[in-house]
Amino acid sequence: MKEILSAKFTELFGSIEDAGYYFAPGRVNLIGEHTDYNGGHVFPCALTLGTYGIAKKRADRTLRFFSLNLEHLGVITASLDDLSFHAEYDWANYPLGVIWAMKERGFELPFGLDLVVYGNIPNGSGLSSSASLEVLTGLILKDLYNFQKLTMTDLALIGQYSENHFNGCNCGIMDQFAVAMGKKDHAIFLDTNTLSYEYAPVELHDAKIIITNSKVKHSLVDSQYNKRREECTTALRQLQKDLDITSLGDLEIDTFEKFKEVITDPIVAKRAKHAVYENQRTIEAVSALKQGNISRFGELMNQSHDSLRDDYEVSCEEIDLLVDLARSIPDVIGSRITGGGFGGCTVSIVKEAALDHFVNTIAPVYKEKTGLDAEFYIVEIGAGAHKLETL
Ligand code: GLA
Repeated sequence: MKEILSAKFTELFGSIEDAGYYFAPGRVNLIGEHTDYNGGHVFPCALTLGTYGIAKKRADRTLRFFSLNLEHLGVITASLDDLSFHAEYDWANYPLGVIWAMKERGFELPFGLDLVVYGNIPNGSGLSSSASLEVLTGLILKDLYNFQKLTMTDLALIGQYSENHFNGCNCGIMDQFAVAMGKKDHAIFLDTNTLSYEYAPVELHDAKIIITNSKVKHSLVDSQYNKRREECTTALRQLQKDLDITSLGDLEIDTFEKFKEVITDPIVAKRAKHAVYENQRTIEAVSALKQGNISRFGELMNQSHDSLRDDYEVSCEEIDLLVDLARSIPDVIGSRITGGGFGGCTVSIVKEAALDHFVNTIAPVYKEKTGLDAEFYIVEIGAGAHKLETL
């Protein structure tokens, strides 16, 4: 990877001397979906797939971006004197948004930079290619401009801030946090209310985690995603008339069941139900995993999917088909949609000996019914964003 990136950097921008080489992963969430903006728990892990970047400081105020994934867009040029969203900057609005968000936080860049990136996370698959790019940019800025005060958690928050206020998706903190804080072979049990977290080893004995990409791009995610968020806020406001809570994540199931009648719209009540139950499911799932009870973990993953399909309504036909096919295989311990929804990927826990059977059973039926070629990735859990070397 380094050779390809550095050859491109030299070709486009000249000498590579003093440039830095960096990596930020993608993430997959095992359980705890649509809980992060509700003050609940999530349980994601970083992947070994991710975004690589070579970057170097400039002596003027110009910013130049190039992606080896989108070569046809050429070099995208911006300036520190105009840190605003431009549709024609396309993907470069993500790094630009982070530069803007850094400035808002008091970390202003004195000079511009040149950046070449390459990512191997499938775009639009719900594996956080955008959070990966945001945290990668944050890490590059911290390193090149010596912003030593910024912690990895700060970089996650800055990435989220830029996504919320520059790129227009009102996402929670899960993706950026997992990308920044990931740890090899561990998932992160994060309380999004306090940002306190714990690493849990993902020991699945004779099973593996496999991601299935439906190839349905979750293009609707922004508008529908923001709508779900609003529905949860409405539910919270109504519950707060009777309860002293600051988020839906504060609610245990019994309390929710007792007070849910105050939510006037039945659709809004379903959204709140998902948020409350999913949070409790996540807490239980992590404790099951710690006790080595993988089958309980799988059952909770299945329940998570059913709730996302029926109550939260963020699944789609293709994803439901993948989940149903997976669950029809006896050696599948659990299977669910992962990420923002409306397409993207499923995550399944499958006995290692049945992995080939899993792929060979699902791929042809899925192709026949949808016309789409599903893709499968066996998950290796990797580290969070880090610098690879100075060149
Ligand atoms: C997207 C968002 C996250 C989270 C998930 C759903 O990935 O970026 O903040 O809300 O959806 O769990």
